[in-house]
Formats: sequence, C-alpha cells, structure tokens
Amino acid sequence: MLQHIRPERVELGMFVHGFVGSWFDHPFWRKKFLLESEDDLLKIRQSRVEAVIVDDERGAMPRPVPAASTVSLAAEHEPVRRLATQPNPIATRYTPPSVAAKNTGFKQEAKRAARIVEKSKKQVGAMFEAARMGQAIKVKDVAPLIDEIRESVERNNKALTNLVRLKSKDEYTYMHSVAVCALMINMARKLDLDDATIRNMGMAGLLHDLGKMAVPQMILDKTGRLTEEEFSTIRTHPERGHALIGDNPEIPDVARDVCLHHHEKIDGTGYPFGLAGDEISMAARMGAICDVYDAVTSNRPYKNPWTPCMALGRMGQWQGHFDERLMGVFINSMGLYPAGGLVRLNDHRLALIVDNCPEELMATRVLPFYCTSRMVEIKPQELIVVPDKGPQILGIERPDFWHFDDWAGLRQAVLAKAQGLSAAA
Ligand SMILES: [Fe+2]
Ligand SMILES: [Fe+2]
Repeated sequence: MLQHIRPERVELGMFVHGFVGSWFDHPFWRKKFLLESEDDLLKIRQSRVEAVIVDDERGAMPRPVPAASTVSLAAEHEPVRRLATQPNPIATRYTPPSVAAKNTGFKQEAKRAARIVEKSKKQVGAMFEAARMGQAIKVKDVAPLIDEIRESVERNNKALTNLVRLKSKDEYTYMHSVAVCALMINMARKLDLDDATIRNMGMAGLLHDLGKMAVPQMILDKTGRLTEEEFSTIRTHPERGHALIGDNPEIPDVARDVCLHHHEKIDGTGYPFGLAGDEISMAARMGAICDVYDAVTSNRPYKNPWTPCMALGRMGQWQGHFDERLMGVFINSMGLYPAGGLVRLNDHRLALIVDNCPEELMATRVLPFYCTSRMVEIKPQELIVVPDKGPQILGIERPDFWHFDDWAGLRQAVLAKAQGLSAAA
C-alpha cells in the first residue's frame, strides 16, 4: 500500500515510490527506489518536499505515529477561503532567487568571469581548430579551464553565463560551447551529482557541438533561411562530432553521449535517431536544455535574443521537447523566475512574473493582480522587485492551490494587461 509520510519519518529499508511537493524540491533524479544509503536518507530528510510516498509492500513499513503528525494532503484541496489565511508551504519552502544568489556579488564575479571568457576563447578555439585538422583532443589542455568555469559558477551562477550570451559571428561556436559547459556544470551541481560527474558534464558541454567544425563555415554563418540541403548538412553535426572524438580514451563517455544525442527530443521528433523518452540519457536531456537556452538567449547581430526570464518561461511551456522534471531543475538552477509564472509577494499579493530587467538580472518585473488578504482581484500595476528593497517575492505558487475559476483565462487577461502597459510606456 502507498503511504504519504513526512520526510523526517523516512527510514532506511523503505521503498520510495515518489515525492509530493514542488518538483523543484525533489531531491533525486530517480523516482522509485529502495532506500539503502545513509546519504540518500539524509538528502530526503533535509529536502523541502512536502511528503514522501512509500510503498510498504516493497520495503519497510513506516512506524506508527500520533495522528497529528501525518500529512493531510486533502488540505491542499480545501476551499481558498481557509487556505488564504495560512502560509503556503510551497511558497515558504522555495528558495527565492534573491536569497539563493547571495554568494559572490554578480558585478564582482563578472570581472573574474570576463578574464575566464577571454582565456577560454583562445583555448577552446585552439582545441576546435585542432579537431578540425584531425588531431586528438588533449583533455589536460582544457581540464584547468573547466575547473575555472566551475569555480566561477560556484561563486556566482549568473556572471559567466550572462557574459557569454554576447557572441560575435566568428566566435559563436566557441563561446556557445563555453556557455553550455557552464550551464551543464550549474545544473549538475543542482542535481547533487558527484565531483567527477560534474567535471565530465562540463566536458560534455564544451564538446557537444564539436561536429560543427566539420560543417562548412558559410553554412554556419548564414543569416538567411537555410535550404533543405544546408539544413541536412547542419543536422549531421552530432554524428560528425562523435566521430571526431572517436575512441580517444581521455574523453569521458558522457561527452560522447551528449555530443551524439543533444538534439534528440523527448517526443521522438529530434535527430539524428529520433530517440524518445527513456532512450535518451539524463546527460543528453540536460545537454538539450542547456544548448537551447544558450542559443535562444544569445545576443547575435541578426536576431533579438530572449531574456533569460523569458526563455525559462517559454521553454518551460514547450511540450515534448525537454524532460519536464529536468527543465524544472534547470529553471531552479538559474535562480531566476520564469516569465508568466505565478508568485506570492510578502505584502499579501499574488503576481505574475513579466520579465527580468535586461541589465540587472536580479531585478524582476512583476504584475500584482490579486490580494490574498481580501481575496479579491486588484488592478494590475507593474512593479519592479529589487533585492532587499520594497516588496519581495516569497516564492513560486501553484495556481491550482488558489482554486481560481478560470486560471488560464485570468492569466491571459493579466498578461494582456501587461502588454498594454509596456506598449503605453
Ligand atoms: Fe548542436
Ligand atoms: Fe549547441
């Protein structure tokens, strides 16, 4: 039988069937498993999940406890009137980006990140050129760079990834590779992967588009519409990259995998093999997300990039492209709220995220539209939330928690209002 118990009641020997709560807070990649390790037990107990679903037929039975300490999931379905007077556990358990990002300041790290980017242009450029000439990739030449990128991401996870969004035509592939390396490392850290795996993920990000070296530069640089033939040539880059890596023993297998499979999609419509669902590894699914995010947010001479916030909002809505749970981890790893998301402010208002401010990633434009203390809709008025000053975002809210009659319609109306406001500005 499946039982919902609080994380602190979980014990070794129990069979974990799933987790209840914000998917951002799930401590594991695996969904169902027998709990045998002390480390895993600690992760669950320290996690922010609301409850753990255990299967007492496949593992140890939870010990009986007083009725008061069992989890009442039914509480989530009580009328909005009662819930509105209580703090929302999801909101209080989500770490707001403004708090999560307080390690090294964005501006402080941006200077160091700029030096790393300059260095990486030369090193990654040389590595890619060597591969083009048929020479083997020397891991020892780029390993220190991957460690430097990792250290920068650990000090501040936005500085370097924001910097590499700006790419000139001739350095696009190199800088895109550095960006995907940093994003993969950032995401791998969020997934609590071990040190060696984090490093390998960085290498995978750095090499994922190596096959572009085998595609004629004029096709890569073309700003107009690609012909069917040119498009087919570009689509060969995963296999070409895989062939360039070959059986080089210095390159981890995960890098081969990401190189070959980062354009596969969960619904089977990707390339080169049209793999679907579980046929695509976790690393390749991560690669797909990091790859697209950097591509759509990159500032290039011929296209308007999406802001990070906008990209997270839009990519989170795409059906069938990405692994949904990993997309949630990615959004959380970026420490930014996705555009269109519902949040609660600390002044008893609900708001929709409109966007982050382009030059100041920690400033977020929101549109408050609902007062939770009076439980009435209020006239949407744009507000810019900045850390430690004025109203603050408490966390992401689940729309179903608030039992809006027509959430989709309400959201659309509020966003339309936001567009009207920005058009009038
Ligand atoms: Fe690619
Ligand atoms: Fe790419």
